[in-house]
Amino acid sequence: MIIIKSRKEIEKIKSSCNIVARALEELKKMVCPGITTRELDRIAEDFIVKSGGIPAFKGYRGYPSASCISVNEEIVHGIPSGRCLKDGDIVSIDLGVLLDGYYGDAAITVAVNKIDNETRKLLEVTEKSLYKAIDIAMTGNRVADISCTIQDYVEGAGYSVVREFVGHGIGRSLHEDPPVPNFGERGKGPRLKAGMVLAIEPMVNAGGSDLLILDNGWTAVTKDGRRSAHFEHTVAITEDGPLILSML
Ligand code: MF3
Ligand code: CO
Repeated sequence: MIIIKSRKEIEKIKSSCNIVARALEELKKMVCPGITTRELDRIAEDFIVKSGGIPAFKGYRGYPSASCISVNEEIVHGIPSGRCLKDGDIVSIDLGVLLDGYYGDAAITVAVNKIDNETRKLLEVTEKSLYKAIDIAMTGNRVADISCTIQDYVEGAGYSVVREFVGHGIGRSLHEDPPVPNFGERGKGPRLKAGMVLAIEPMVNAGGSDLLILDNGWTAVTKDGRRSAHFEHTVAITEDGPLILSML
């Protein structure tokens, strides 16, 4: 069941998202060769807590950390560890915050110093696919129009979309209906209505779409070992068009 949010509820989700967005800005500045993903997670958790929020991922189905930090071939749900970032790596940082009963969720992928042109293009295409999807996230269109927009653009650029993980509705729960896949057929799925709030999150692989889950039971990595990028925003559907709640 898709839960429609009031204006007031959307404001609350925006407040949660604001902590997420500011934490991501902070983390982006801290990304450098030599820092460990655990240190980044620490910064994320401290930032969220001192802002009055609760890290939404910690404890979610037993997930151990405040953030998901996925490096290079890791797609999503990278568990912060002693792994040191290196020059030329890419790092996806995914954060969720609970504040006053409502969740916010967003992710970015950041370059560690200088990355090669091929990797830069992967990041650009993934981020652009998110904004193209947001552009059509308006009343009258359908959920699969979002999905299809992402898939067409990503595959047109020669990359693949991940199938096993999808975007989602968000509000009083971190994951609500409807699922928002990054693949689909135009014109399918529920119609978008004002008051829906969606976390749209393309996960894009440089190579094939197949993935494996590591022995930790969480971390998804590409089967072919090639790199993957992830960008996510929490977006409200309004009568005046899409409103990106997780943007500063
Ligand atoms: N943004 C991801 C999602 O919505 C992150 C969830 S991490 C988890 O699925 F630890 F909470 F599962
Ligand atoms: Co999400």
